[in-house]
Amino acid sequence: HNYNVTHFVTSAPDIRHLPADSGIEVAFAGRSNAGKSSALNTLTNQKSLARTSKTPGRTQLINLFEVTDGVRLVDLPGYGYAEVPEEMKRKWQKALGEYLQKRACLQGLVVLMDIRHPLKDLDQQMIEWAVDVDLPVLILLTKSDKLASGARKAQLNAVREAVLAFGGDIQVEAFSSLKKEGVDKVRQKLDLWFNT
Ligand code: GTP
Ligand code: MG
Repeated sequence: HNYNVTHFVTSAPDIRHLPADSGIEVAFAGRSNAGKSSALNTLTNQKSLARTSKTPGRTQLINLFEVTDGVRLVDLPGYGYAEVPEEMKRKWQKALGEYLQKRACLQGLVVLMDIRHPLKDLDQQMIEWAVDVDLPVLILLTKSDKLASGARKAQLNAVREAVLAFGGDIQVEAFSSLKKEGVDKVRQKLDLWFNT
């Protein structure tokens, strides 16, 4: 697919207001500030397709983008944002679980984690939910430009080793929107998911 022609279709305030469960979708999930929106922009070669921000919790809606008819990329709001009230966090976590487990058109999940702080509790929860329903997972260790190459490789190997415990179809790659590292690997994976 040509990801450069991806365009915004719609936002949904929650899982219940998503468009019809048809076509194919790949979702981008991760903690607040992990770099989801930046990764979507990098992937699609666009400066401001998805809104990025220094303020965590910027993406509060589920934003849907269309690559081509019936082929969508989904920017999910970040989880784990400290300032969000406990009650809202719980509601959002439940909704995410439902989305992952019930959305039939979902073909794969991209989980983005800051390479310096991977596999927090909520990340592990997301991975577990995905593996539970046989959804393949691509883990991107984001902001890889923040580590020197030795440390980057060490962290990549550590996460690859750690995720073996989940079983399931999980690939782990280093990614940087700033340095464009890992972009081709993401495109390859999306092509694979979108053609199944
Ligand atoms: P929420 O929508 O709040 O959940 O955040 P998000 O996961 O969409 O993160 P976003 O893409 O808005 O990026 C958060 C911050 O990290 C911004 O200040 C970005 O500029 C920065 N950032 C994102 N990707 C990279 C990267 O590859 N390298 C570096 N150094 N900074 C990055
Ligand atoms: Mg965002």
